[in-house]
Amino acid sequence: MYVCICHALNDKQVSKALDTGAHTPASIFRHHGCQVQCGKCVPLMREMAQDHRSRQCGACATTCTPEPANADAYPYGVAAE
Ligand code: FES
Repeated sequence: MYVCICHALNDKQVSKALDTGAHTPASIFRHHGCQVQCGKCVPLMREMAQDHRSRQCGACATTCTPEPANADAYPYGVAAE
């Protein structure tokens, strides 16, 4: 399934980025050598990253701040970081 149409990134490519340390949409883009364009994929990437974190480490919810505090206020662009 394609997650990002602008860069033709599918769910397997996003999962691979998450498995190798990416933890935000911006870091997923960086892993693949690109950056956010239209931003429509950012909410799904964020959801995939949160799901990945919840499966990886139960302590992350209290010790990590992988998303900026204002991520919900800016669904695209800035919040991709
Ligand atoms: S769909 Fe990902 S940046 Fe446009």
